[in-house]
Amino acid sequence: MARLRVLSVASEVFPIVKTGGLADVTGALPHALARESIDVSTLLPGYPAVREVARAATEVLALDELFGGPARVLAANSAGLDLFILDAPHLYDRFGGPYVGPDGNDWPDNAFRFAALGRVGALIGSGAVGSYRPDVIHAHDWQAGMVCAYVHYAPQRGPATILTIHNLAFAGRFAASVMPALGLPSQAYSVEGIEYYGDVSYLKAGLQFADRITTVSPTYALEIMTPESGMGFDGLLRARADRFSGILNGIDADVWDPVHDSFISATYDAAQVAKRSANAAALRRRFALDERPDALLVGIVSRLSWQKGLDLLLDALPVLVGRNLQFAVLGAGDPALEAGFTAAVAAHRGRIGVYIGYDEAVAHLMQAGSDVVLVPSRFEPCGLTQLCALRYGAIPVVSRVGGLADTIIDANEMALAAGVATGIQFAPPTSAALEAAINRAAQLFAQPAVWQRMQRNAMAADVSWDRSGTQYARLYRDALASR
Ligand code: ADP
Ligand code: GLC
Repeated sequence: MARLRVLSVASEVFPIVKTGGLADVTGALPHALARESIDVSTLLPGYPAVREVARAATEVLALDELFGGPARVLAANSAGLDLFILDAPHLYDRFGGPYVGPDGNDWPDNAFRFAALGRVGALIGSGAVGSYRPDVIHAHDWQAGMVCAYVHYAPQRGPATILTIHNLAFAGRFAASVMPALGLPSQAYSVEGIEYYGDVSYLKAGLQFADRITTVSPTYALEIMTPESGMGFDGLLRARADRFSGILNGIDADVWDPVHDSFISATYDAAQVAKRSANAAALRRRFALDERPDALLVGIVSRLSWQKGLDLLLDALPVLVGRNLQFAVLGAGDPALEAGFTAAVAAHRGRIGVYIGYDEAVAHLMQAGSDVVLVPSRFEPCGLTQLCALRYGAIPVVSRVGGLADTIIDANEMALAAGVATGIQFAPPTSAALEAAINRAAQLFAQPAVWQRMQRNAMAADVSWDRSGTQYARLYRDALASR
């Protein structure tokens, strides 16, 4: 099969810069696609976190003017990834997060920061960088959505474009007053263009102009075509349903591997789940939990946001802590949720431990030491922590939405009888249903043979990128063929 060149346009890439699952996906997918004869290069903004990588890079394009200052494109290789770094210090070289400044607010010039990313993606697509010309441009989320508009309005026919929705809740919405600076024809500001309820939406740019649209699970794809979950985009998604599909995420089997994991106390494979108890002990120490190996240890690794439903856990906690349960929570985000969990620790010391922050090593220990990993999301495009849990033999307890519905086999009577259950699902996302689900988990945990069977099933589940890599490869080739 002829090799294909794909330019991935992304605002974060693991292990270079990460705020969530998006980075895991954009960091892992290139490796999976290499096995499908697809060469991926990734265009990434030149944030300070990218500076180390940029030091060993070579300049491949210089621009005098890009949204208020000069810019360069640098080519580099890091962590096995071919990168194009958009070096535009006036847009990206500043202290703070990729999207949010130190004051916790979005950067005021995000409209220009991410239009620039799209503009330069389209330039590379048109062959502006030496002999490099991609067959396909794959844009991730609103931050990259504008590349689809710039390719669409370019004078010559460019590469095929794909937009992947990782989270429809972020529309990349800006005041219509940014339009003149974007350099698009005036008709782009219309319902058939990037106009969105009187503003503009960069996500809509992708939804409107990409040759193919994907999201990260089949169930989320169905959910967001409904008015209840479509966030104002459901009509457009239904209109483009023949170009729209869901492809599940995988996880990087080398990054998440209980057999070779330097962050955990005891490594193990599926035949050695008893060794997880050493990790549980380390986790209890790390979270100042009482030394009670008989208690069901429930772990959470999550952004603390409304999406993730952790307020439901806070509501259920007063009842749950009266049972033989312990909770370890690793997360950061919404200050009210952070405060809620901190207060819960003070009220139930030894029963719940909380680490407010972001810590890769603790996230690994959580997967290796928890009996259960809880993901009570109100909506979840795919979710990666439940996939990590499967691989580490922690039993996922999840709400039945989006990718959580698609990746976990609920321990209902028939699944238990058939010996195929890998976790527990609950619905609707309420604290009562969450409490009932934790009780079900505790009942199964009290039956060691049943529990161990579930752990073996979980660890045998294929959470790799193999199947999905093949599906993306087919999608790219289809999109190209139908141009
Ligand atoms: P989302 O992208 O919506 O936050 P995902 O489940 O897709 O959710 O991906 C979350 C990723 O971020 C996982 O790799 C998870 O381990 C990681 N993560 C989330 N919160 C933390 C944290 N506080 N510390 C370390 N890793 C975290
Ligand atoms: C988003 C979603 C999450 C998904 C991740 C990677 O952050 O919230 O469900 O797993 O993107 O696709």
